[in-house]
Amino acid sequence: MQDAELVRLAFEAREHAYTPYSHWTVGAALLTADGQVYQGCNIENAAYTPSNCAERTAFFKAIYDGVRDFEAIAVVGGPEGQPAPEFCAPCGVCRQVMREFCDLDDFRIILADSAGRSKTYTLRELLPESFGPENLGR
Ligand code: THU
Repeated sequence: MQDAELVRLAFEAREHAYTPYSHWTVGAALLTADGQVYQGCNIENAAYTPSNCAERTAFFKAIYDGVRDFEAIAVVGGPEGQPAPEFCAPCGVCRQVMREFCDLDDFRIILADSAGRSKTYTLRELLPESFGPENLGR
C-alpha cells in the first residue's frame, strides 16, 4: 500500500473521533505486515484520563484480532471540523505502546497534514533509549 493511501485512511478515521472536551480530532491508519489496515480515532471521556488516542485505538483493535506484526502507521490531527494545519505527533504513551509491538528501525510513523505534506520517522527517532519487552527478557 502506498503511504498516500494510508494517510487518506487516517483522514477518514479522523471523522470518527469523539472529542467533546478538547475538540481536537485525530485519526490513525495502522498497516499490518499482511496488508490489512486498522483505523483508529481518539475517544474522549468526561473523566478525562480514560480518553484513548487514535493510535492506541488502532493498535488495540489489531491486537484484539491477534495481529502482532506491523509496518507503518499514518497519523493526522487538528482542530475539530477543520483541516489538519500541521503534523500531529503521537503522545508518549502511544509511542510506548508502539514499542511493545514494533521494530525500532523498520516500523514507519508517517505524520501528514491537509496541505499534502508528510514526514516519516522511525520509532527509534521518536522514542530513543527506550524500555521494551527485551529488557524483561522477552
Ligand atoms: N491525541 C491523539 O489521539 N493522538 C495524538 O497523536 C495526540 C493527541 C488526542 C488525545 C486527546 O483526545 C486530544 O488528541 C487532545 O490531546
